[in-house]
Amino acid sequence: MSPARPGLFAALALLILAMAAPALAQAPHLRDHGTTRQLIVDGAPFLMLGGELGNSAASDLDHLSAQWEGLRALNLNTVLAPVYWESVEPEEGRFDFALVDGLIEQARAHDMRLVLLWFGSWKNSMSSYAPAWVKRDQARFPRARAADGAAQEILSPFSAANMQADRRAFAALMRHLARTDPGHTVVMVQVENEIGMLPDARDHSDEADAAFAAPVPRDLMAHLDRNRARLDPRLDALWRAQGRPMSGTWAEVFGPGDGGEEVFMAWAFGRYVEGVAAAGRAEHDLPMFVNAALNDAGVRPGAYPSAGPLPHLFDVWKAAAPSIDFLAPDIYRPNFIERISEFRRPDNPLFIPEANRAGRPEASADALWAVGAMDAMGFSPFAIETAPADDPMGGTYARLAELAPLILAHQGQGTMTGFRAPVDAAGEVDDSPARVTLGDFVFTVAFVDPWTPRDRQNTAAHGGLLIQLGDEEFLAVGTGVTLTFASARDPALRVGIESIDEGRFTDGEWLPGRRLNGDENHQGRHLRLPPGATGVQRLRLYTYR
Ligand code: DGJ
Repeated sequence: MSPARPGLFAALALLILAMAAPALAQAPHLRDHGTTRQLIVDGAPFLMLGGELGNSAASDLDHLSAQWEGLRALNLNTVLAPVYWESVEPEEGRFDFALVDGLIEQARAHDMRLVLLWFGSWKNSMSSYAPAWVKRDQARFPRARAADGAAQEILSPFSAANMQADRRAFAALMRHLARTDPGHTVVMVQVENEIGMLPDARDHSDEADAAFAAPVPRDLMAHLDRNRARLDPRLDALWRAQGRPMSGTWAEVFGPGDGGEEVFMAWAFGRYVEGVAAAGRAEHDLPMFVNAALNDAGVRPGAYPSAGPLPHLFDVWKAAAPSIDFLAPDIYRPNFIERISEFRRPDNPLFIPEANRAGRPEASADALWAVGAMDAMGFSPFAIETAPADDPMGGTYARLAELAPLILAHQGQGTMTGFRAPVDAAGEVDDSPARVTLGDFVFTVAFVDPWTPRDRQNTAAHGGLLIQLGDEEFLAVGTGVTLTFASARDPALRVGIESIDEGRFTDGEWLPGRRLNGDENHQGRHLRLPPGATGVQRLRLYTYR
């Protein structure tokens, strides 16, 4: 053997290792896809068909083990489950991951992925999951205070000790995952839960008062300056009302009222979360997000959880917490389209960790619209273990699972859309037909099913998505919607149905079922997806004069 050869072999071996290592170790991450960002799991885009466990379901492994069969029957591929700081660190510095290990083991045994919800310093504004040694030592771990000085059951985000304690526990959790979850059963982590200050817009502890009287940090001012042309108008209005100063105290820059105080508080929460999230990602780099309790118009911050990751505060949160990939809505309001659209921005992909309580008939329409029209990376009703066994969501998730590769390929490309009947904040349904354009065709979508008595329909539960497969070919997925067609190019051009087939996708292959060119498509007049279940139909159109 020539002397050069061992070196050559070693170099080749290193090269092979270097090429193989990232593939083997590739952790879940986010990747741009057209105009959106997707979650990548095992190297491929992943559509999360999720459900979030009720708060206490993961605190007892026996109780938890009884839930999986039901979750599998609903065709979930991911469960969102809490991890409780108080159980992870029952005594300061002593970590106990028994619940986490049990959760992961059970999820793996049922072929399910996990999103962990870090119930650390805050859970629905409060600090109910802080360990007893934190709760009982208010001198070391100070509380937020109301305007009248009353201490709240809310850890103050202005305390470095609070943040360090949370950060250390979260980092320990992520370090533990890095060691024990090489196959990435855990694909994403939510940091804290529904952060927000109550009952006032901001914390009034001594530390908070001092920070409020100090200058607005330069980092935030620089971010606002860089993004001044595209700031959220509500934030911009506060700044503008003060003359858009480039420096000053919080009250000078954003005004002395509730609005300015909420901006101040959002920065404090955001920085705290950044400290926690960055420490966790340094141990195990998974995508991370925060979730928001939505506010209602006309309600003052503090009456709702002030300063959470809400759309009017996106700019502040994005500047404060760059280790957070996106801000996510928890929606328990009927006006789904209106509220959810606000979370889909070029800098914020959509994921809905709490899509109202499980078991609602509207969930299928919500999911189809979110995935089809908003490029949602996932959907997840809350308290999923309480869904009835025959919840139609199980069928919807089964269809979405079959179609996931196709849907994921079409997200962010302008070749897919979604529709559901809009509902307003008072719950009033507007079920007048919607119009959507895809390719060369305009689709009129009726939410009132023509063949079901009007008083037996819940049109808020009707919706779907539409994918363009070719110039004249589309895939319609939905429930309770009827589609008719016109040319988008030439009003004189008439559009007919060549064929409609039911069918399924298996491993990316279309397997046609029944041909529906008779009564089911009204003899070529429409495409109808009957209410009650989510159907899939492949449509071929043609034009004539
Ligand atoms: C929103 C919270 O994020 C959940 O943990 C749970 O408390 C639900 N609200 C209850 O509706």
